[in-house]
Amino acid sequence: MLQGKKIAVFGVANEFSIAWAIAKAIHEHGGELALTYQNERFEDTVRRLAQSINVEMVLACDVSQDDQITGVFERLSQNWDRLDGLVHSIAFAPATALRNPFLQTTREDFLVAHDISVFSFLALTRAAVPLMQSGGSVITLTYLGSQRAIPGYNVMGVCKAALEACVRYLAAELGDKNIRVNALSPGPIRTLAARGVPGVLQMIEIMKERAPLKRSTRQEEVGNAAVFLLSDYASSITGEILYVDCGYQAMGM
Ligand SMILES: NC(=O)c1ccc[n+]([C@@H]2O[C@H](COP(=O)([O-])OP(=O)(O)OC[C@H]3O[C@@H](n4cnc5c(N)ncnc54)[C@H](O)[C@@H]3O)[C@@H](O)[C@H]2O)c1
Repeated sequence: MLQGKKIAVFGVANEFSIAWAIAKAIHEHGGELALTYQNERFEDTVRRLAQSINVEMVLACDVSQDDQITGVFERLSQNWDRLDGLVHSIAFAPATALRNPFLQTTREDFLVAHDISVFSFLALTRAAVPLMQSGGSVITLTYLGSQRAIPGYNVMGVCKAALEACVRYLAAELGDKNIRVNALSPGPIRTLAARGVPGVLQMIEIMKERAPLKRSTRQEEVGNAAVFLLSDYASSITGEILYVDCGYQAMGM
């Protein structure tokens, strides 16, 4: 499905990362990959994972640093004649913003969460566009907390609402370059980032009880949906939020 496509995946931290499931699925479907990691804390793990699927381009990118974003896309343009896909699987909110009531969110925590979780999507997409000479597919990862108040998700829900708006505005502006912009919205999955959200285990249990499919979402299912959006099978899909949540968002109770 992705034969000949060159795709950069941002956001692998470890083997539980959604970005890693997406990278594996891209590899299984014949895509060529570059992976990035946030900083040296993750470097060894990400290099080991990359090696297991023969990925050579493994680059550092802290998205709070403009020069690191520029550096990564320079490296991509030196190694590849074009870019076909970009996966943004990055989010962060300071622990205080998730632990305290939403009403108590500080200006600084609000800004940091939006910088890393929302602005970075715009910044990476902007850097990717000049390389997407033959069109492209851009994906980010969102969550239902953008649309509904999910206890404990707090400022991250506000970030995801802004992120989903970015998907629509970028889709509108980039359509004439044949660049499609979409988001995947998985149900709760146990990952490093999810561990920071109080009550995530309870969210998973509620999902198993109430979702039409009576179970929680698996990382590899998000990987498969990403392959679809990155592929030409999704050639008419842009500005879309695709739920990968066993149907949970369809339920009223
Ligand atoms: N796990 C879930 O339940 C779930 C559900 C819906 C959406 N999501 C979204 O999926 C995406 C991936 O999260 P995950 O659950 O795989 O967790 P994860 O912890 O594996 O991935 C989050 C990634 O963000 C990266 N990151 C944080 N700050 C960064 C920075 N300054 N620069 C560069 N990278 C930075 C981390 O290094 C990590 O790789 C996030 O956007 C998350 O909100 C997760």
